[in-house]
Amino acid sequence: MAYGHGKVILFGEHSVVHGRPALAKSVPNGAEVTAVLSKSGLTTLGISPWGVQLDTGPTPIVPHEKLQAALKIARDFYDDDVELTLSASMHLPGGAGMGSSAALGVAVLRAMDEARRIERPEQEIFERSLVWERVFHGNPSGIDNAMATHGGLATFRRGPEPLSERLKPFVPRHPPRLLAGYSGPSPSTALMVQGVADLLARKPEETNKQFDAIEAIVNNGKLALEQGNMRDLGQLMTMNHMILASYFLLSTPELEKMISAAKGAGALGAKVTGGGGGGCMIALVDSDQTYASVKAALAALGPVYDV
Ligand code: MEV
Repeated sequence: MAYGHGKVILFGEHSVVHGRPALAKSVPNGAEVTAVLSKSGLTTLGISPWGVQLDTGPTPIVPHEKLQAALKIARDFYDDDVELTLSASMHLPGGAGMGSSAALGVAVLRAMDEARRIERPEQEIFERSLVWERVFHGNPSGIDNAMATHGGLATFRRGPEPLSERLKPFVPRHPPRLLAGYSGPSPSTALMVQGVADLLARKPEETNKQFDAIEAIVNNGKLALEQGNMRDLGQLMTMNHMILASYFLLSTPELEKMISAAKGAGALGAKVTGGGGGGCMIALVDSDQTYASVKAALAALGPVYDV
């Protein structure tokens, strides 16, 4: 069995695309993939519970052409005649900002290696899964597939250095207790990323100031985690959300409803996570009691996940 982790971004989505740091926590084993040898002459991929079935044949699999293209790219990394039947189990919602495509990509690539008895360094899994991610997200920073590959709690910065110099895992004083609420489908991450890139091109000075503010939030968020200061952490999440919502226009009425419901039920802070424009929000809780009340408040509005 091969795994890829999902992720939630606590701080720094979007600005991370433009070289600023971000801070994320993995959602362990978001995707699991098994592989057996196939005799069909094609590599196939079944994804449950999404009800998706793909193969590397020439017939376009509508409406999953991107997944099919990514599968073909993964298959083409190998110069051999080994074809596999891959079965994926997804434990994350798709297209919701929790890194499902990266988790699936990493699990598929690791399953392809496992079946061939190849042990590949993390750096190469990261590089290959970034090629997979480009099929879906156009200009990904690499944070989703870095987290899918390595897992844990870490800061990440885009750049030419090896992954080990850009992904910096760290140990919090107390693991943060987070809940994710799904507000409904979002437009593609690529579109949301393009929107922020357009804003940066139109208003570089103003947008860079917002990126500066987010960078300070990322750095303070790391400190708050290292010192176990959950109140500060929650406030920083809310501050990051305010920038994402008011300047980058990445929130929606549904997300706002979930965020106020979480805060009303006792969450220390809440924000949109990932690409935005829909998808998931996250809320920070600090006790069993607030965990239960925030979970109930979010569950009244949509699916909830422990992250
Ligand atoms: C998506 O999970 C996070 C974004 O910052 C895009 C990226 O970093 O590739 C919106």
